Amino acid sequence: MTALPAPQRILVVGNGARENALASAILLSPAVQKLWITPANWGLLDPPGGRVECLDIAATDLPGLLQAAQELAVDLVVIGPEAPLVLGLADRLRAAGIPCVGPGEKAALLEGSKSFAKDFMQRCGIPTARYLAFEDVFSDSAPLRQAIEQWPAFAADGSGGLVLKADGLAAGKGVVVCADKAEALAAFERMVLQQEFGRSADTVVLEERLSGPEISFTCLLAGGRAEVLPPSSDYKRLQDGDLGPNTGGMGNICPTPWATDEVVHDFAVNILAPFMRGLREDGLDYRGFLFVGTMLTERGLKVIEFNVRFGDPEAAVVIPLCEADWAGLLASIAAGELPQGDSSHSVISLREGACVAVVLASEGYPLSKAAPQPIQGLDRVAARGLLEPGGTEEQGWLSPDVSIFFAGVGRRPRAAQSAGQDAGASNEAGQAAAYQPYPAALADWEFTATGGRVLTISARGADLSQARRLAYEIVGNLRFEGMQYRSDIGKLP
Ligand code: AMP
Ligand code: GLY
Repeated sequence: MTALPAPQRILVVGNGARENALASAILLSPAVQKLWITPANWGLLDPPGGRVECLDIAATDLPGLLQAAQELAVDLVVIGPEAPLVLGLADRLRAAGIPCVGPGEKAALLEGSKSFAKDFMQRCGIPTARYLAFEDVFSDSAPLRQAIEQWPAFAADGSGGLVLKADGLAAGKGVVVCADKAEALAAFERMVLQQEFGRSADTVVLEERLSGPEISFTCLLAGGRAEVLPPSSDYKRLQDGDLGPNTGGMGNICPTPWATDEVVHDFAVNILAPFMRGLREDGLDYRGFLFVGTMLTERGLKVIEFNVRFGDPEAAVVIPLCEADWAGLLASIAAGELPQGDSSHSVISLREGACVAVVLASEGYPLSKAAPQPIQGLDRVAARGLLEPGGTEEQGWLSPDVSIFFAGVGRRPRAAQSAGQDAGASNEAGQAAAYQPYPAALADWEFTATGGRVLTISARGADLSQARRLAYEIVGNLRFEGMQYRSDIGKLP
């Protein structure tokens, strides 16, 4: 089948850079008359249509989202983040007859419970790190502690290592990679005795530490079929040279040099095929994105994790390289049909070249949240964008090769600011105002970094080094107090 026609009214749930990227791609379909995004994201460019509206419903407010989808008579809901998927938003919408992109609650356990995912992998014969799972550790932590003490990797030479994982969702913080026994016992102390990651650590997965480059595979799934989008590589650690704490991702590159044809074949045969078989055996009708985080070890690809959504910042590099009628494609997925084409890529044509994304994060990320800080330089970038070759005002002010995706960004009226008001939490001052894409809004509004990952700068070029140069040129124009970013995204050895 070919893709369905683009729906006219679409609701995007989630307001990070990933949802900004998805919504931007959707808005390229002229048939889309209205797009709502909730909670608010001010980073969407929609000149000159006025098709965008921001809502203020939390991504985990299931009754609120269902009600909005019904009242607004949307034709399609696209669910971005994991939390609403794990809570069962997709099932609720489907039960009410509203098509949506995202798996139901049962399949979402592949991300919502690490022990469930590991059991699934073992059952399906999917290569992954060896592991042990411990339940009810808040009541009895002795077996887990003993397993750490006796972990075979802690051989006499101290080589190897292990990883402690809180079972449930922990906003990307529930994984501690430990080089030695002392680190593992310290992680045990924080995770189990001090319950630093909350209830999500009442079950803990202990697994062998693997090593090798990481490759993110993004797949589209519907109707029992899957399509693999171009693989990318995430930069998980906060600082250059892979130092510092793990984050949600500080940057990404696509294509990734590690994903040779042989590796992609390994993924299709040894990971994706058994995964699809497993879904079938479990009777799961999966409609949505699947993100498979893998590590290329000396003994082939192994799965680190499944995410039941698009990765972030993966979306910022993969989507710009996939030319498609995204609105129609997503409608087809929601209908349970993956469009089939003549070539290996259905209705997506891959753009030449490469994409590099650099994340700008607030002070304290990923450990603490900073006070809101004004973002400087968006006007400079917007003005400069007009001069980019190929960039036109209708296309959204910036060159089509550059995107600035918003995440932890709030805004406050410039007038109120001089009167001493502060928007504080993200978006609140903007709720009453009509939506204005940020370049046009720069005169009236001051944009603020509200914590966590703030902006994702994505640039496309003929190759990685060109894309990297352009991305960092944009980064060089932007700043806010306490801004953190890596300077080595896309810098290959
Ligand atoms: P996760 O939340 O499962 O994606 O884990 C976060 C990060 O921890 C991964 O992207 C890896 O960098 C690292 N990690 C997780 N599991 C392992 C493992 N078994 N061996 C080495 N690193 C791991
Ligand atoms: N960038 C990895 C993730 O989205 O989980």
